[in-house]
Amino acid sequence: MKFFLDTAEIDDIRELNDSGLVDGVTTNPSLILKSGRDIFEVTREICETVSGPVSAEVTALDYEGMVREAAHLYEIADNICLKVPLTVDGLKTCKHFADQGKMVNVTLCFSAAQALLAAKAGAAFISPFVGRHDDIGQDGMALIEDIRIIYDNYDFNTEILVASTRHPMHITDSARIGADVVTLPPKVLRQLFKHPLTDNGLAAFIADWEKTGQKIDS
Ligand code: E4P
Repeated sequence: MKFFLDTAEIDDIRELNDSGLVDGVTTNPSLILKSGRDIFEVTREICETVSGPVSAEVTALDYEGMVREAAHLYEIADNICLKVPLTVDGLKTCKHFADQGKMVNVTLCFSAAQALLAAKAGAAFISPFVGRHDDIGQDGMALIEDIRIIYDNYDFNTEILVASTRHPMHITDSARIGADVVTLPPKVLRQLFKHPLTDNGLAAFIADWEKTGQKIDS
């Protein structure tokens, strides 16, 4: 399963990319706002830092506008993945660029039927939002299970990119179901490393090691 970072904070991206665990990045207009950066400058820096797909989202709502914006976004770097909303115009834009062999991530997916449409439109990635489902009392992970079954039934190549993840269980559940990608806020990726028994066990080993008076690297 691939790990994408769900942020436009370049410092977090640089630090976590050094772990060797980051396979890509997803951004959206809200994350660009939060970063306080110019979309082109920050997206270029992200693309120079991470070699995998970097999703950059269109803001036009109509097909012609999306295609015009896409031309600017694809120019940023070779690893740009265009992000379009799951609307009629978004999927038309997806098909347009997928037919040219370009990567498109279809975002704001909240149903299995929508995911089926995105796959038929040739999306490289479908982004179902699990956290926002949970927020309204629905089961976000059940949607991932349904999409996995549907895509496997027809051998669709579209990768399931689990988005709107909020905590480590979203990540392990995604892996159990067989999602292709999860996009994680930096905080959630950092949480994955942590377990109190790891910290306690390490402290005990180090304390005992010091009592031996030995050194491995002398
Ligand atoms: C990423 O592609 C999505 O835009 C993002 O995961 C949405 O997350 P949120 O629901 O926490 O805003």
